[in-house]
Amino acid sequence: MPEVKNDLSNRVVIGSDVFVPLIKEVELQERIKALGKEISENYRGKVPVFIGVLNGAFLFLSDLIKNVTVDCEVDFFKLSSYGDEKISTGKVKLIKELSCDVSGRDIIIVEDIVDSGLSMKFIEDLIAPHNPASMSVVSLLVKPNSLRYNVKIDYIGFNIPSKFVIGYGLDYAQKYRNLRSIYVLSE
Ligand code: IMP
Ligand code: MG
Repeated sequence: MPEVKNDLSNRVVIGSDVFVPLIKEVELQERIKALGKEISENYRGKVPVFIGVLNGAFLFLSDLIKNVTVDCEVDFFKLSSYGDEKISTGKVKLIKELSCDVSGRDIIIVEDIVDSGLSMKFIEDLIAPHNPASMSVVSLLVKPNSLRYNVKIDYIGFNIPSKFVIGYGLDYAQKYRNLRSIYVLSE
């Protein structure tokens, strides 16, 4: 077992990999507050359904809706694409379906990160046939230089470099989701 040392204020060492802070907790929370405000203004008079993509988006979704001031509902999809590796397998699997009926509803898909865009394309194709009244996408992080699929992301928290990141919901082999900041793999 590699030794894991988590220093929340500084760096995260996982075996021979060193992760350094990219976006600190305060910056995350400030940006999420602004996103919540923007979404609340755009959905005034509506009751949107926030659809989180598990597992990665669970922290972001919970902090986001705490900053939303219109009535809203919450549901979740569960997808899997990365396995235990740092690079995508290029395949998306639906592991948990939605519980709610999206037809005629204003849907806001909540993602932790859009990398190639494959997962988002998969979700859009899954939801579109159910005829929602509207569908928008909010992603905390986007790697613009990695985008391979034509997906529209309506609300972006931060554009980041095409490097592997962990923390605040994002995992490496299912761990480190509990870190309060986002850390990036240093060269
Ligand atoms: P995409 O389908 O290539 O856009 O990848 C999206 C999914 O891969 C995200 O929802 C994440 O779960 C995962 N992912 C992409 N980049 C990273 C990363 O840097 N760290 C951890 N997970 C990532
Ligand atoms: Mg995800």
